[in-house]
Amino acid sequence: SGKINIAIDGPAGAGKSTIARMVAGRLSYVYVDTGAMYRAATWYCQSLGVEPEEVEQVLQIVKDLVIDLIPIENGQQVLVNGQEVTEQIRSLAVNAKVSRYAQIEGLRSRLVSLQRQMALRKGVVMDGRDIGTTVLPDAEVKVYMTATVEERAKRRYKEMKEQSAISLEQLAADIAERDRLDQEREISPLRQADDARLLDTTHMCIEEVVETIVSYCKIYG
Ligand code: C5P
Repeated sequence: SGKINIAIDGPAGAGKSTIARMVAGRLSYVYVDTGAMYRAATWYCQSLGVEPEEVEQVLQIVKDLVIDLIPIENGQQVLVNGQEVTEQIRSLAVNAKVSRYAQIEGLRSRLVSLQRQMALRKGVVMDGRDIGTTVLPDAEVKVYMTATVEERAKRRYKEMKEQSAISLEQLAADIAERDRLDQEREISPLRQADDARLLDTTHMCIEEVVETIVSYCKIYG
């Protein structure tokens, strides 16, 4: 078909989802937000009062968890077992715990297998933490997208709906803590794949980043 897969990884708030969605739009590819899948699993466990320490119960829940990512204008709807949770998965409660649930091996293997299925026919732009290293090691284009923690906190702050609930400083601290947990976890930690291109977006605008990634794909066109 000539289609390829594109893997975009990096720390929290680097702009991966915005960029990945726009790259997918430019190429008429499918965008897969794997962070939304970890968030949906987290929200569902929390709604049942199951903590990340209760590994057996978490695994029981994710065994037949159904997560749907439905593209809509300017974004996506997220459904977990048929229930729409698009807004809920962005809450501070989910932010605070998602990296704990994401350390659970059985939860990761279940989501990774769903993610691989989604990419089987190619033409996918997938963003997350372990896409280039673990989920799609054969992706034709791999990008590791970063920015300084200050810049990432500023970007997140601007898009937040609960701004009054948290200060910019607290948000920066939360992001740094999530990065630490994601980088230090045992199973597929956040890291740049050997064959990924490093893109520091601190001083780049959205359009520049999109153009840069689309240009990486040109040789496959
Ligand atoms: O991308 P986003 O910030 O929405 O991801 C939320 C969390 O989900 C991350 O901080 C990480 O703990 C987890 N995650 C992961 N592997 C992925 C995507 C997200 O562990 N591929």
